[in-house]
Amino acid sequence: MIIKPKVRGFVCVTAHPAGCAAHVQEQIDHVKSKGLIKHGPKRVLVIGASTGYGLASRITAAFGSGASSLGVFFERPSEEGRPATPGWYNSIAFTRAARAAGLYAGNINGDAFSDEIKQQAMAAIARNLGPVDLVVYSLASPRRTHPRTGVVHKSVLKPLGNSYTNKTVDTDKGIVSQVTIEPATEAEAADTVAVMGGEDWEMWIDALAEAKLLAPGATSVAYSYIGPVHTWPIYRDGTIGRAKLDLERAARAIHARLDAFGGGRAFISVNKALVTQASSAIPVVPLYISILYQVMKAQGLHEGCIEQMQRLFSTQLYNNSVLKFDGEGRVRVDDWEMRPDIQAAISEIWPRVTTENLAQLTDIAGYRTEFLKLFGFGVAGINYEAEVEPHQVLD
Ligand code: NAI
Repeated sequence: MIIKPKVRGFVCVTAHPAGCAAHVQEQIDHVKSKGLIKHGPKRVLVIGASTGYGLASRITAAFGSGASSLGVFFERPSEEGRPATPGWYNSIAFTRAARAAGLYAGNINGDAFSDEIKQQAMAAIARNLGPVDLVVYSLASPRRTHPRTGVVHKSVLKPLGNSYTNKTVDTDKGIVSQVTIEPATEAEAADTVAVMGGEDWEMWIDALAEAKLLAPGATSVAYSYIGPVHTWPIYRDGTIGRAKLDLERAARAIHARLDAFGGGRAFISVNKALVTQASSAIPVVPLYISILYQVMKAQGLHEGCIEQMQRLFSTQLYNNSVLKFDGEGRVRVDDWEMRPDIQAAISEIWPRVTTENLAQLTDIAGYRTEFLKLFGFGVAGINYEAEVEPHQVLD
């Protein structure tokens, strides 16, 4: 079939297999162009491995330091006549490329929050990989069925305490408007912590430790975001920020545990705001990202997921020197985004943006290009008028 983008609000309901594969290849090429990451990981478990930061971490580990990997993700496979979600095609492309390079690449498609998927992962690691020396925790999910209680927790993106009014953009229609978001209830905040906080990361580490599948000295990392004052009420100081604080709590607990086991370590890396399926769902953030891209591209400082993860691995995690932490013990690769000159330029543009000047003052065009690329559209070298088979098997 001929597959075209069908954008519905902040999602695209179609994905292009060849475009996704080419997008994965671009990321592989970037990592290879940067050369070997000395002392990098060799056996890696990536939870949330099919898109965004998790996929970029997996690609960096495999093609930057020759790591074998098991990827866990939750994607809708293709059916006859209906495309899969992009993470399905990304994972197929990654797996083929990794195997062609002689690397083990295994995949588990299912709910990472469940005991069943954890046990499947333990069996696969025991059988095919051996004890892992890196665990990347990169889930972004709207809900979690708690494996002990069976309760379904739904995360919300809301402020805490007071309502929040700010500018936002409908990235599809290009309309800038004011949005007011009412504060979350305590129950909604607790639910968001249950979904996006650190309990499940700890459960993964428990499962690995119990099965003796953690290598001595293993590293584990999860990702967070802080961002600028413009988005604090909806991000850092909102429900998702509270969940990220819990992720930091989990990082400290996991660190203590890994440290006692052969000098391992666990921490949070604070990453840059980027267009991903997760971030496009947050009110106000897409407008901020459009301005951020404009300013960072003008300074020659723009990075995507793969540039961020390659920099994280090569200059921080596996730099073989002392890691640089902020005052809260976090690694920062949002350092360029948060530079005072970058933030000052954004603050100058922010109040002036309207629907009429959106295209001049912001990189809304770059935002849209990146958004479509997440689904395999607009990738160089792909003929989108050609027939393509949507049904692709992941083995
Ligand atoms: P994403 O939406 O691109 O990726 C999410 C991944 O989680 C996918 O692999 C998906 O299949 C998997 N997943 C979701 N629910 C699952 C489930 N129940 N079981 C198994 N797998 C599941 O998200 P993105 O943006 O890469 O986010 C990853 C992490 O990075 C999150 O913690 C996010 O808060 C953080 N982060 C994101 C930033 C951004 O601007 N996008 C900035 C800084 C941090």
